[in-house]
Amino acid sequence: MDDTANPFTPSFGSRPPFLVGRDGTLGEIQKALQAGPKHPGFASLLLGPRGTGKTTLLLEACEQAEAAGWVACKADALVPNADASLHQALLDVTLDQIDALQPPDKRTVSGLQAGPLSASWDNLPAPQRSSRRLQRALGELADLVAAQGGAGVLAVVDEFHNLRAQDASVIASAIQQLAKDQDKPVALLGAGLAHVEHTLLPHKGFTFFQRCKRHRILNLSLLEAKQAISVPLDDGGMRLDDDLLCRAAVATNGYPYAIQSFGFHLWEATHQGAAIDAAGVDQAIEHMDDDMTANVLVPIWDRLTPKSRDFLAAMSADDGPSRVADVAARLGATPNLVNNYRRRLIDEGVISAVGYGLVDFANDRIKEAAREHQAELDAFRTGSK
Ligand SMILES: Nc1ncnc2c1ncn2[C@@H]1O[C@H](COP(=O)(O)OP(=O)(O)OP(=O)(O)O)[C@@H](O)[C@H]1O
Ligand SMILES: [Mg+2]
Repeated sequence: MDDTANPFTPSFGSRPPFLVGRDGTLGEIQKALQAGPKHPGFASLLLGPRGTGKTTLLLEACEQAEAAGWVACKADALVPNADASLHQALLDVTLDQIDALQPPDKRTVSGLQAGPLSASWDNLPAPQRSSRRLQRALGELADLVAAQGGAGVLAVVDEFHNLRAQDASVIASAIQQLAKDQDKPVALLGAGLAHVEHTLLPHKGFTFFQRCKRHRILNLSLLEAKQAISVPLDDGGMRLDDDLLCRAAVATNGYPYAIQSFGFHLWEATHQGAAIDAAGVDQAIEHMDDDMTANVLVPIWDRLTPKSRDFLAAMSADDGPSRVADVAARLGATPNLVNNYRRRLIDEGVISAVGYGLVDFANDRIKEAAREHQAELDAFRTGSK
């Protein structure tokens, strides 16, 4: 990399120049893989709000596992309700890995399309057939890996929250049969938004995933945010004094995407001749705020359901934190219903719990959007009287 190339990575799915604050989780994942199929963390999920670094961590864990002899089969559940099934994508990657380890002309195993077993699959319902096929491929790969002195197979699924029930049951049953029933080293690592705990996981067909070890991926601490900013700057020969570093770290709120955006803008300005001083830091914070609005908050707001937006609009009447009981009263909704929205909005990182029965906006921009939404609702009500 040329010396002036900006090391910061303000885009989703891009590995940061310096990964901080994730050693504990990475260590736990590798320990579980080493321990084998009986370990509760042999199948694990990384769950957290948008942009907290789940994909980054997934890729890092995957790389560490590969270095320890695991063969990774990675598929992303990119779009909810996509036409292509995720279990088919996982099967394709698994077959590619089998080919890579054992060219077809040297194959001793019969292959997955032919053979006496596949004929008897014809009578099975489609999901069971898919699951057998995936199970057989993963099992075959695990045997190959073991025969070549490797550790095992790691199935990796990003954007887990988009998983469809049918995919879930095919993948779960294949992995469960291999790891739990046959004690084969076929592990699972998934990453996705935390609301799956209340949306997907409680559903029938997701029992296997319910039992996965769940790692919560949250914002970094102030100290970690300072490191994530200062280390790449130092490496590039740029020093930020401690006061300014603190100011920047506080402004990012430890949110990994914001850290990368701030670092990126500071680096750009400095390499165009600006001084690294308070004004330069404030300007980079402003750019970071704009990036946050355009790339995080607007997409989050657009994806919220009308009911979630109404919940936020009802909260926006308060200057400080809101009492959930007040929000329920304003919406004329039952506490149970309101609690579901509260949980979901917390999991999506839009609001945070700040005390017993109290919630607050996680970000001022979301609060502004909620106030505008309330104004629209009021205008609509007045207009329709
Ligand atoms: N531990 C970390 N330290 C510093 N920066 C990080 C860290 N983890 C992730 N980042 C940066 O944060 C941003 C978001 O990371 P990533 O895309 O992994 O998040 P995500 O949780 O997968 O997002 P999404 O919910 O949209 O899938 C990227 O710019 C990445 O480089
Ligand atoms: Mg991601």
